[in-house]
Amino acid sequence: MNPVKEKAVIISQKRIAEGIFDMSLRCPGAASLAEPGQFLNLYCRNETRLLPRPISICGIDKEKGNLRLVYRVAGAGTKEFSELKTGDILDLMGPLGHGFTIKDKPAILIGGGIGIPPMLELARAISGRKTCVLGYRDEPFLLEEFAKIAPVAVASEDGMTGVKGTVIDAIREKKVEGGIIYACGPMPMLKAVADYAARQGIEAQISLEERMACGIGACLGCICQTKEKNHHTNVNNSRVCKDGPVFDAKEVVFP
Ligand SMILES: Cc1cc2nc3c(=O)[nH]c(=O)nc-3n(C[C@H](O)[C@H](O)[C@H](O)COP(=O)(O)OP(=O)(O)OC[C@H]3O[C@@H](n4cnc5c(N)ncnc54)[C@H](O)[C@@H]3O)c2cc1C
Ligand code: FES
Repeated sequence: MNPVKEKAVIISQKRIAEGIFDMSLRCPGAASLAEPGQFLNLYCRNETRLLPRPISICGIDKEKGNLRLVYRVAGAGTKEFSELKTGDILDLMGPLGHGFTIKDKPAILIGGGIGIPPMLELARAISGRKTCVLGYRDEPFLLEEFAKIAPVAVASEDGMTGVKGTVIDAIREKKVEGGIIYACGPMPMLKAVADYAARQGIEAQISLEERMACGIGACLGCICQTKEKNHHTNVNNSRVCKDGPVFDAKEVVFP
């Protein structure tokens, strides 16, 4: 399905943790097509910031035509977004990329840091048995919303919330079991998840993050190394924006 370019209207925006913002947008075109694991390209008003900023979809309300994004202020572009108010207009393109493929197996959903938001819509979309495993650097966010949907195991680097350590430590300590893993988070976490899934002999779908330019598969600016030859590039590289961001963990060659 082709993405749409749309002028979205901000319907709410609030800060939910240090440097983390929760924004809802009215964008009926993109919302009607969106699936868990896909992302939007957001355009800055300041035209010196030419490239769009990719942000994952955290919530989908097709009836109302709304999408929800939760993002961390990382630089000038995300700072600009954090200053937008209700009623402001934001140019976007989306939904982009290949999201998660839901399988009929007990699921373990793993989110790390700013990779946590896309797991919320996925958790809502999975109707079968599921457990969420969330890894925070420090201050937790979205935790109560996850807890309303599924059992949650939490890990934090400082040990202030849940198990002290990584999401894999939380899985082991809380004896989390499942037949498939879905994960989004920083690359070292995704590698640890891929290794864990391989040892357990279960499938893992992982959502990668890479610097992007076009976001639609044209510039080859966002490639990751894959074990199989990609049908588009004909080399062992895939475009994270178009072939991903969600990949089968077995296909990815980690840097
Ligand atoms: C598929 C995908 C989904 C993402 N989902 C989220 C999300 O849900 N919430 C969230 O907080 N962040 C998410 N990110 C990261 C987010 O895109 C960057 O934090 C953001 O682009 C930074 O822009 P900036 O102008 O604030 O920072 P700057 O550092 O000023 O950005 C400069 C340039 O580098 C690019 N860039 C910088 N950091 C990243 C990064 N980590 N990934 C990709 N491009 C980057 C920017 O897009 C911009 O073009 C996602 C990234 C990808 C690729
Ligand atoms: S950003 Fe251009 S191909 Fe992915």
